[in-house]
Amino acid sequence: MDIPPEILRRIERLREEINYHNYLYYVLDQPGISDADYDALMHELQGLESQYPEAITPDSPTQRVGAPPSERFVSVPHSVPMLSLDDAFSQDEVLDFDQRTKRLLQIDGDVEYVLEPKMDGLAVELLYEGGRLVLGSTRGDGYTGEDVTANLRTIRSIPLRLMERYISPPARLEVRGEVFINRDAFRQLNRKRIEEGAPAFANPRNAAAGSLRQLDPNVTASRPLNMFCYGIGKVEGYSFKTQWDVLTTLKKWGLNINPMVKKVRGIHGAIRYHQDIASRREGLDYEIDGIVIKVNDLGYQERLGSKARSPRWAIAYKFEAVQVITQISDIQLSVGRTGAVTPVALMEPVRVAGVVVSRATLHNEDEIIRKDIRVGDWVMIRRAGDVIPEVVRSLPERRTGKERVFVMPETCPVCGSRLVRRPGEAVWRCPNPECFPRLVRQLTHFASKGAMDIEGLGPKLAEHLISAGLVRDVADLYSIELSDLLSLERLAEKSARNFLSAIEASKETTLARFLYALGPRHVGEVTAQVLADHFGSIQAIIEADEERLLAVEGIGPEVASSIRSWFSDSQNIRLIRRLINAGIKFTDLKETKKLPLEGKGFVFTGGLSSLTRGQAKDLVRDLGGQIVSTVGHKTDYVIVGKNPGSKLEKAYKLGIPTLSEEEFLSLIDHCKTIARERKEGS
Ligand code: IVH
Repeated sequence: MDIPPEILRRIERLREEINYHNYLYYVLDQPGISDADYDALMHELQGLESQYPEAITPDSPTQRVGAPPSERFVSVPHSVPMLSLDDAFSQDEVLDFDQRTKRLLQIDGDVEYVLEPKMDGLAVELLYEGGRLVLGSTRGDGYTGEDVTANLRTIRSIPLRLMERYISPPARLEVRGEVFINRDAFRQLNRKRIEEGAPAFANPRNAAAGSLRQLDPNVTASRPLNMFCYGIGKVEGYSFKTQWDVLTTLKKWGLNINPMVKKVRGIHGAIRYHQDIASRREGLDYEIDGIVIKVNDLGYQERLGSKARSPRWAIAYKFEAVQVITQISDIQLSVGRTGAVTPVALMEPVRVAGVVVSRATLHNEDEIIRKDIRVGDWVMIRRAGDVIPEVVRSLPERRTGKERVFVMPETCPVCGSRLVRRPGEAVWRCPNPECFPRLVRQLTHFASKGAMDIEGLGPKLAEHLISAGLVRDVADLYSIELSDLLSLERLAEKSARNFLSAIEASKETTLARFLYALGPRHVGEVTAQVLADHFGSIQAIIEADEERLLAVEGIGPEVASSIRSWFSDSQNIRLIRRLINAGIKFTDLKETKKLPLEGKGFVFTGGLSSLTRGQAKDLVRDLGGQIVSTVGHKTDYVIVGKNPGSKLEKAYKLGIPTLSEEEFLSLIDHCKTIARERKEGS
């Protein structure tokens, strides 16, 4: 059937108009008409094309969808290899790149660079012949990709026909760029998939890759893919002078170019651009992982040439990733300083936020179950600032069936003690206070900068001290002698002496540091300071009940209960006594908060009747007093019980006050009242 010429003209006019509106919408980001008007144009074109099917051409905007599913992808060789880029992570590396460029080009002045955001999607190539899109392929291995023409045609920001309005398209044009999914569209897509019971995509990049490699283009058409073009392959019938020229000309042909591209002279402009883009990154509607710096002059590019896999004329200046994907090779258990047995994922090393990471905490058994993390899984890990890397989630879509479900053991992997889990807690704990790794961590925490600050006491030395039987808890540190240290292998005398002076120096500390060093759970440096400021003495904290703790600003129920339970443990109280007796002093105590017997030395002689010698000594120490063994200038009181010994005589001789048991107990009572009043007054 012959098509009336006015119909053909109308069809052609509609196509041009629709293409132009696509350009306004996708490339210029300035829609020219309403969605309804656009739909009306499409509708009219579809109507005419169904009436005159012979008029349909492959580059008609109605022909984006509808190609039948294919059996497999056909390979496509790239006429110019699609290379990748060298990465830089620091200013220094970028400055090196600039230096090398100048050296190779033998120029002194500033080089002109084009700067582009580095899209986190996948590279594709489009081939236009006579302005018509005839082939689209993936990057593949850089030399051969796969024919995904039918899928690329469904992407609205890819023109099926190049625009002729400003410059006529060349005979042949290979265009390169990145296919990606906008963040918003990605979220919507995942929401829809979850509703439909399909697995969610891990990130926009995976979603874009999965969508592009669909055998059925109808599926691809339903995915909100987008594309930015950033380069060319082989071109016939047009000659470009610069990368800037490439970008601006591609744009005039209707291809989508990232609006944030920039041209600068000199490398410092590139460094500023990197900072600027990094700060705007979160606000962008698509994911980028850095910037690309390209030598602008194509003549220079040719002179610089390429290495095997990457050009010498460009570099990717990456942002430090905070989230990356890697694979778990094993899950091991680590015993922490509070006895908590934490599962830790061992992973293929990856670079996250500037450091190479190969271990990440999995927190506890419940978290592993909740996130369904298995040995062998691909996982997303995250590291923010100084925070310990953690596994965010597993990527079940990557499973092969060889993954192994993790089972929490019933006993401590190190000492074999049966693990305990307190009601309401998610962690399993090793109850053995002398469990080796637990003790190592306690010692290193105790010695750390914000705590007692004992220089030189890292994990290695801690392990040696424990293995040699020199240290079974932190208080033992203060009775270490030089000869003990010299018996340790691999510790030179000088280091041993330094270590001893560091221990000695640590005795002068603050209450806050001391509390933090003791390490009850939830007592970090800030909480320790709050407690020290509020209570003013270790004794007041020992005596504080939960109610009093809760009354302190900044202390919540969880912290209060943890402090209470730590300080109700008699072993811990004994530890504190031993530390104080070893000579630890607090320089931050306010005068009024001093304990009433602080600085007072007590000597006992003879038997007591209403309490044991030990209980009596504890009463003295609780109030800040010290027990001295012989009567001398450090003795303030001698407590005289039944059948006293020679100490009583000595006291008489030196004129030191003596107290009977009764007098002693009334002194203690009196001092307790003072202590209570001081505490309440604070
Ligand atoms: S230029 C030889 N420019 O990064 C030059 N690549 O590691 C190669 N990419 O495979 C590409 N944004 O997928 C270039 N503005 C950009 C880019 C970009 C993202 C990707 C591309 C390429 C990879 C290179």
